[in-house]
Amino acid sequence: MSVDDFKARARAMWALGDFPRVARETIADVGPTLVASAGVRTGAKVLDVAAGSGATSIPAALAGGDVIASDLTPELLEAGRHAAIAAGVAVQWTEADAEALPFDDASFDVVLSSFGAMFAPRHQVVADELLRVARPGGTIGMANWTPGGWVGQFFLVMVPFMPPLPEGALPPVLWGSEEHVRTLFGDGVSELTFTRRVQPVTHFPSPQALVDYYKSNFGPTIIAYNSVADDPGRTAELDLKLLDFAERSRGDDGWEFEYLEVIARRAS
Ligand SMILES: C[S@@+](CC[C@H](N)C(=O)[O-])C[C@H]1O[C@@H](n2cnc3c(N)ncnc32)[C@H](O)[C@@H]1O
Repeated sequence: MSVDDFKARARAMWALGDFPRVARETIADVGPTLVASAGVRTGAKVLDVAAGSGATSIPAALAGGDVIASDLTPELLEAGRHAAIAAGVAVQWTEADAEALPFDDASFDVVLSSFGAMFAPRHQVVADELLRVARPGGTIGMANWTPGGWVGQFFLVMVPFMPPLPEGALPPVLWGSEEHVRTLFGDGVSELTFTRRVQPVTHFPSPQALVDYYKSNFGPTIIAYNSVADDPGRTAELDLKLLDFAERSRGDDGWEFEYLEVIARRAS
């Protein structure tokens, strides 16, 4: 599969189910936390990359930022547009590929991405784009799922059931590895801070309820099931593996989604 075909599929995948609901119900704390860590201030020019329905863009606008939310998937931008109106903030919504951002060099004080840029296939191309559009001395803030955390492991269960990555693409969760991020940003940054954070997910009453929720609402899980839809044995296997994982990963208070928060200062 070519990179372009992969992106066309990614765009269709993230429009499946109800990602805005998943973002609202499972990662609501991440955007406001990232905005605070990145120090978004009144009047700051902010770009949210792979913004989806605005889980980070809207908190950035609430913090006073002058925000552009960019994403590959128009359906999510549309949902974000409505959410921003409901929140009473102005955000500009723009269709854009994280690997080819349609913005001038050095045009943003803060460039953010929560669980977004990590899903573009060519990591170095994305890192170079994030650096290019940030002004010297500006901030890049990311929230990236870690390979060993809940979401990283959830994807690991689904990957054998999903279409393969295109040649030259790297697994998204590598962005949750400090060494990988350090290498990608290289001497393009003058400071790099990593913080491991956890988003608690407490509202699913049972492991089965969690699996059913992701099957109905989360594009990657829907794609995994669609890929084996004509094979009842493989579908049953996927059901079992996801349920087993949901049971094994449950703690006393539900589930904990670990992510790596990255705050980088663009070198001058
Ligand atoms: C897990 S969602 C996260 C959305 C949002 N940042 C949030 O925190 O809710 C991943 C997002 O990445 C977007 N995406 C995937 N590949 C992309 C690419 N190459 N360029 C821009 N956006 C992309 C998808 O459309 C989707 O909105």
